[in-house]
Formats: sequence, structure tokens, C-alpha cells
Amino acid sequence: MEKKFKRTLVTCALPYANGPVHIGHLAGVYVPADIYVRYLRLRGEDVLYVCGSDEHGVPITIKARQQGCSPQDIVDRYHKIIADSFKALGINFDVYGRTSSKVHEKNAAQFFRKLYDEGKFVTRESEQYYDPEAKTFLADRYIEGTCPRCGHEGAYGDQCEHCGSTLSPEELINPRSRLSGAEPIKKKTTHWYLPLQDYEQWLREWILDGHKEWRSTVYGQVKSWLDGGLQPRAVTRDLDWGVPVPVEGAEGKVLYVWFDAPIGYISNTMELLPDSWEKWWKSPDTRLVHFIGKDNIVFHCIVFPAMLKAYGDGFILPDNVPANEFLNLEGDKISTSRGWAVWAHEYVEDFPGKEDVLRYVLTANAPETKDNDFSWKEFQARNNSELVAIFGNFVNRAVVLTHKYFEGKVPAAGELTAADREVLEQIPELRASIERNIEGFRFREALKDAMSIARIGNKYISDSEPWKVAKTDMARTATILNVCLQLCADLAVAFEPFTPFACARLRKMLSIEKADWESLGSAEILPAGHKLSEPELLFSKIEDDAIQKQLDRLAAIRAEKEAAAKAAAAAQVAPQKEECTFDDFEKMDIRTATVLEAERVPKTDKLLKLTIDTGIDKRVIVSGIAEFYSPEDMLGKQICILANLKPRVIKGIESKGMILMAKQGDGKMRFITPQEVLVNGAEIG
Ligand code: MF3
Ligand code: ZN
Repeated sequence: MEKKFKRTLVTCALPYANGPVHIGHLAGVYVPADIYVRYLRLRGEDVLYVCGSDEHGVPITIKARQQGCSPQDIVDRYHKIIADSFKALGINFDVYGRTSSKVHEKNAAQFFRKLYDEGKFVTRESEQYYDPEAKTFLADRYIEGTCPRCGHEGAYGDQCEHCGSTLSPEELINPRSRLSGAEPIKKKTTHWYLPLQDYEQWLREWILDGHKEWRSTVYGQVKSWLDGGLQPRAVTRDLDWGVPVPVEGAEGKVLYVWFDAPIGYISNTMELLPDSWEKWWKSPDTRLVHFIGKDNIVFHCIVFPAMLKAYGDGFILPDNVPANEFLNLEGDKISTSRGWAVWAHEYVEDFPGKEDVLRYVLTANAPETKDNDFSWKEFQARNNSELVAIFGNFVNRAVVLTHKYFEGKVPAAGELTAADREVLEQIPELRASIERNIEGFRFREALKDAMSIARIGNKYISDSEPWKVAKTDMARTATILNVCLQLCADLAVAFEPFTPFACARLRKMLSIEKADWESLGSAEILPAGHKLSEPELLFSKIEDDAIQKQLDRLAAIRAEKEAAAKAAAAAQVAPQKEECTFDDFEKMDIRTATVLEAERVPKTDKLLKLTIDTGIDKRVIVSGIAEFYSPEDMLGKQICILANLKPRVIKGIESKGMILMAKQGDGKMRFITPQEVLVNGAEIG
């Protein structure tokens, strides 16, 4: 690693404390950050690892209202759930703070105040929605009405969750306040704005010219924001949950959540290191790396840097922002509100002892360059055929055989063959590749390299068959097992960033106290005579029923969603057709008729052949209603028909007329029948 920096400050996006974290968050932000931090620490680097809960913002206030509790109750609950699930997954931040803390409130207010005093903001008056009954301004989310796109009645002022359209409150039909139900009015209000356009040139030079090495997805997004032209961005809101704006005459206003949250990184560092936080934030010797998801790019690459630049005082800027794309779940976008997610806290309950498996699968499939998909079948396959069958199996054979033949003591290497040497020589190359990949934020590739060590070991032990050799040649057996054990020790180091729990077990088995990156590939970790501990399983198989349980849960959510979509489609009413004249209508001869015989039309799914008495004659009509009615259903029923429709031949049957059906938006059909039975042939009009 180039020694341009003396230390590395790693931040992870502060998760909103209005719900638990899910695999999308883990794959996008926390698992890669954790790999990076563990790797730097293995290399002896000075690292600070900062995260915390993002506890402000409108969604939290809405959730509190829905549940009849205070916003503080909500964030207290989720802060704990989230912090516990990180810990359970081995993601151990140096500090996991909260933006509702006193330290943060003071720091964020002071940050705003300095910019305010130095004239770095502009003010603007605008018209905002206001609830005249509740006497409060309304965030877009607090306005509800009918969606202009799909007619859904509970659409919000920023989005219709039913059809997914992005909306503005102006577009809602019959808008009303979610607080009081009153119709919102427009009212003037003044807010502070950061004039981002003033920083555009500086941002271009810093990122577009200076950081061409950033991921192309990140660089591209920054470029398109800059090319689109930057606008002043409001940094305050009319809301009663957040950091109060520390300025006279700003009652009822708080800092916008995206203004205060990134300052939270600094506050949390202060909380941990009240006397030495500045060396992490204001020294050019510190490398700052922000791990985030792609929806956070603009805030971390444009807005927060502009805030820090405006603030001055030596704050450093990120050296890299390795933002990830999104992870989908079983082919569908993860959605917190729909419950379409795998929650971290539920995973650790459902799969105790399998924390590494999730870390492994999310890394092997990390959405680094494009959106990716998580599937439970793949999760199972990667566990059973990679972690268990390759990594675990190799280690187990090597350690068990050493106990069997050498009383658990590392046998001396003796004389190596060319094949032995070839195996060992690959390790330094793989180590260099892991280093390049992790330092370049290519964690999937780095994991593949680490897995290559296990593959090499597993193949080596299978090919050299020490269990057979032992029958005739103990010296050769010793050499083989020595090579295998060296590889096991390499694995204990190489996998430490990825699967730390398994590596702790492996180190225990090998009686190695501490993982040290420099030992990787050096063949000196395990001297001859070194005593191993008892073997234990590194990984265990995941059975079908555990996977099925997860799939069943998701299937239930999917079924619920489909039912809701169907109900919504059913409610959709087709617009009225073009005007017609009375004469047009008079042309149609509509009559009552009774079904005499009914049968399915062979080799079709939809068609029934009905023989009917029209009062005029007996005739056959072929009708596409078999999806909705069986022949028995139709028998003897009185229906209405269009009698004078030009006959058509359908599947070789002449059909004379058409049965009148009412059809809903979801396609469901019912035949029309007079309110009481009439004679056949009665005219309808
Ligand atoms: N809470 C935000 C999200 O989940 C991330 C905030 S990152 C910070 O999208 F920088 F603002 F803290
Ligand atoms: Zn809609």
C-alpha cells in the first residue's frame, strides 16, 4: 500500500433508524467496509471505523405517528436492533453513534452557525404546503390524495407507493393533510440554502480532474450532476423533529436531515475521541473513505464536500467513495415497506453460527459494478459447494490426518517435490492479487483469490492422497501434510477480512494466536513440531428445509402483493367510449335466452360451446368464458345475447351471436342476467 497517508478513516453511511438493516444495506455498504477495515488492520495500519444511526428525517416522524409513539421511541428501538445486528455479523465499528445525541446536536448546530455567520448561505422565500388546522407546514410525505396516474387514493405528495410514480403535491387529486385531514394551503416560508453552484468549478477540478481512479459508476454520476448544473440546496426544513436551526427567528425549523447526517460522522468521532478527533478529520495525512450505496453519491461527493469546503478549517475530503449499486432479492427490488427483504437481525436468528456465510455470499455476489441479485438457492449452493465442500473440507482433512498420523504435531516438510513447490509458489502471487483487489475496492475479486488458495489446497490433498501414501511412506506423508497445513495457515489469514468467525475457529485449531498479513505465503507460520488443537468443523451444510422456510416467507409476501395488485386492477374502470347515436344502439338486437346445452370446445382453455334457446330459434354460440364458468355453471341459466351479430366460425363451429358479459379491470367476467326470469327472446334496450 502506498504510504502517502499515515492513517485511514473509514465511514459507513449512517442507516436510518426507522427500520432494520437488510441484505441490500449489508452488501452495498457494511460488508465491503468491514472487509476493507479488517484488511488494513491485518496490515498494521492505523484505522478508525465510524458509523451510527441517522435519526432525523420525515419518515421517522411518520412512523412514530402511525405507531402512536414519539420519534424518539422509534429511533431508540431501531438504533438498538441495527447496532446489535452489526455486532452479530462481526461488523465492529470503533464508534456507532446517533444523530439524536447531545454531542451531535451541538456540533451540527455549530457547523450551521459558522456557515451562517460567515454568509455562506443564501435565503429564499418559497410557498410551501401548510395545514391550517394543525398549524404546521407539511412535508410532501405528509400530504395524501388520489394518484393522477393510477387513481390510487392513498398516494403521497412525493410518491405513489401503489404504482411507483414519483409525484409532487401539486399533482395529487383532492390533496389533504395526513395530520388533520384538512386541505393544505400554500404559505410563504423562508429557508437557508447552500449555493452549490458556487462550488461547481472546484468540484470539477477536485473530482473530474483529480479522481479519475474512482469507480466509473461513481465518477459518471458525479459528472452528470455537474454537467446538469448545480442549484442552491435547502439546508433547513419546517419540521419539529431534528436539530433546531440555531438562529433567532427560526422557530419551528430544523436542519434538513441530509445536512445534519453527514456531520454525524464527525460528531461520532468527537464522541469517541473528544481530544484527538481532529487528527482524523483535519490532517492531510488521513485518508478518508466513505462506503455508501449509489443513492447516496450526490450527498457524499457533492453536497457534503461543498459543506466542508465552505466550512474550511482544514477538513479533509474523501480520497475515495466506493459506492455500490443495488442488490435485488429473488429478482425483485428490495422494499422495506413491502417487507421484501432479508433482515439482518432475522438472519442472525434464523442462521445462528452462519454469520460468515452471509458475509461470504454477499461479497461473492457484491453489486460492485452493476445491480445484482440475491437468491436463497445460490446462498445454499455457495455454502454447501464452496465453503463446506472446498474450504472446510480441505482444512478438515489436513487437520484430522495430522492428528491421525502425527499426534497433532506439524510434521517437518522434508524434501519438497516440484509439484509441492508449484503449489506453494502460487500463494505469494495470490496474496499480491488480494492486496491489489482490496486496495482497489474490488472485493469480489479479492474473495475469489482467497478462495483459490482453498481450491488449490483441496485439489492438492485429493491428488496426493496422504491417506494412501501413509500406508507405505511416512516421510512423504509428512511432506504432504506439512504443505497442506501451511496452506491452512494461509487461509486463516487470507479469509480473515471475509469470514472472521471461521478464521477465529481455524486459528484455534492451528493454535495460532493472531492473524498477521505478512505471514501469508511465508511458510513460517507453522514450524515443525507445532502442536495443533482439536479439529472442529469450519462450516456446516445448509439443508433444504432451512432454505424452503425462507422461500415460503417470500412467497407469502409475493402472493400478498399480487392479490393487492389484482384488487387494484379490478378497481380500475375503463374510460368512457366515444359517443354513439341512438340509431347506432338500435341496430343491436339484444335478447334474453336460456342455455340448453353446454360443453367445452375440445383442445381449448377458454371456449365453451353453448346451445341456447333465443325464443326465435335454437342456435349455437361459442363464448370465451371457460376461465370463469364450467359447462355445469351455465346449464339452464338465462343470459343476454347480441342476437344479430354476424356469424363467425370459431374452431370449426359456427357461432351465431354473442353473450353479454360484464368485465372488470382485472379481467374477471360475469354474464348478465335479467333480474327475474323472462320469456326467451325478450328485447333488451
Ligand atoms: N441515512 C442515509 C441512507 O440510509 C444515509 C446517511 S449517510 C450520512 O440513505 F452521511 F448522511 F450520514
Ligand atoms: Zn399511482
